[in-house]
Amino acid sequence: MIEISTSILSVKKGEESKTFIALEQAKTDYFHIDVMDGKFVEKDTYQKMLEYASYIKRISNLPLDVHLMVKDVKEAILDFSGVEPNIITFHLEACKNDEEVMEMIKLIKDLNCKVGISVKPNTPIENVFKFLPYVHLCLVMTVEPGKGGQTLLVDMVNKIETLKDYIDKQGLETDIEADGGINLRTADSVKQAGANILVSGTAILSATNYKTIIDELR
Ligand code: DX5
Ligand code: ZN
Repeated sequence: MIEISTSILSVKKGEESKTFIALEQAKTDYFHIDVMDGKFVEKDTYQKMLEYASYIKRISNLPLDVHLMVKDVKEAILDFSGVEPNIITFHLEACKNDEEVMEMIKLIKDLNCKVGISVKPNTPIENVFKFLPYVHLCLVMTVEPGKGGQTLLVDMVNKIETLKDYIDKQGLETDIEADGGINLRTADSVKQAGANILVSGTAILSATNYKTIIDELR
């Protein structure tokens, strides 16, 4: 079953609540909260995303899918656990060793959230294999993290296929989330490759009817 996680990163200033309510009515499966600290990536959306997530929590019961693009993973996990997200995903590249990865996985689980681990385009997918038995999902970045509205990197489709093959061979149930440049032109290729959660920001927020585009992406 394909799920859509709408990234609220590019929501228009002053239209936040109208947009969030419309997305709730359009039945997005998740709100994708793109947390950036200005260190792991250039942009800093930390406080804004904390406010948006708290607001969404008040007006909607739909789950929050928090994507941490931060250097200090532990601090962000603790800060964002406050909005009771369904999923917290952190970057493999933000951890200095395997022990820290396992520590972050345990911390997220202890906070009753599902765990996601994410890899940037240049990180070999094999680097994440050893952690898959311990996480709920793997978020494959299909653009360089840091901003919305980019074009999907087609090499990432093969990367998703390689990940899917490994998950199937190992008999794992890990979800695969594709994130970046997902629209009606690119959705089919990432779904066929094995992604079952699609993040989309620009394609949805720029559409006139959110329900139509979300249903079409699914
Ligand atoms: C990029 C973010 C993505 C991005 C998706 O760093 O992780 O979630 O906002 O937005 P679009 O769909 O516009 O690429
Ligand atoms: Zn994201």
